Amino acid sequence: MYELIDGKATSAAIKEEIAEEVKQLVKEGAKTPHLAAILVGHDGASETYVASKEKSCSQVGFNSTVLRLEDDITEADLLEKVEAVNNDPGIDGLIVQLPLPAHINEQKIIEAIKPEKDVDGFHPVNVGRMVIGLPAFVSATPAGILELLKRYNIETSGKSCVVIGRSNIVGKPMSILLSQKNDFGNATVTLCHSRTPNLKEVTGQADIIIAALGRAEFLRADMVKEGAVVIDVGISRIRSDKTKSGWKLLGDVKFDEVAPKCSFITPVPGGVGPMTIVSLLRNTLLASKREIYK
Ligand code: GUN
Repeated sequence: MYELIDGKATSAAIKEEIAEEVKQLVKEGAKTPHLAAILVGHDGASETYVASKEKSCSQVGFNSTVLRLEDDITEADLLEKVEAVNNDPGIDGLIVQLPLPAHINEQKIIEAIKPEKDVDGFHPVNVGRMVIGLPAFVSATPAGILELLKRYNIETSGKSCVVIGRSNIVGKPMSILLSQKNDFGNATVTLCHSRTPNLKEVTGQADIIIAALGRAEFLRADMVKEGAVVIDVGISRIRSDKTKSGWKLLGDVKFDEVAPKCSFITPVPGGVGPMTIVSLLRNTLLASKREIYK
């Protein structure tokens, strides 16, 4: 029988811990942590994510600001907005919600964010520091996955881990973190992607599989060994005539088929997703306490 890894309950518990810490810090005279988000344009998914981040900030007692900008803003004007937040001592963390309109160079915007305020952990300075094991803001989804492994006492040391997907935000940092000489590292990691031959043979050997390729129900039962731990990062919105909204969310794992072979598995929704926002809150708290860059 498998155990479900409940990201919803875990994230709620962590939010309470953060709220408690914030209350204590403010009582001791520290400033209230403040997260700023820049939202360019009116993309539906981005609006939803930013609203959810705002709500989470208020749940834990943070201040938050959303700068809403029109999608015809020039790159130069957006860079100025980023610079203004960089120089605002009242703001601890800044995220620029992605994707940005096509006429704006995303990488240039990410690199304009001061590493000390880059709570998304996307700036090359934070990525580089993470790779060599220095204190860094770590991308929220991999950080959330490590937290789930930790809270469910899932051993990674000496285990064989397979990460499917090589995005800069999830797959790549995940593979590095799991192989670090560190708590919840020390795994032997294989990073698979669209050019990996015999994927089924590779995943079939894994003690832990992280599916982060963004293809609905890609991981099937015949790709997983008995007793494996399966972490599903996918969220594909698929049309459905069985739900009220007309949409359903599917992960990268064919859950009903894979779950019976697992020791632990995350559901979609309610697995990795809620942990991502909690990691962003944690990073913002670290930024306000100046714990990464002293
Ligand atoms: N777009 C999708 N996910 C993310 C994220 O984690 N951070 C930002 N800034 N944009 C996103």
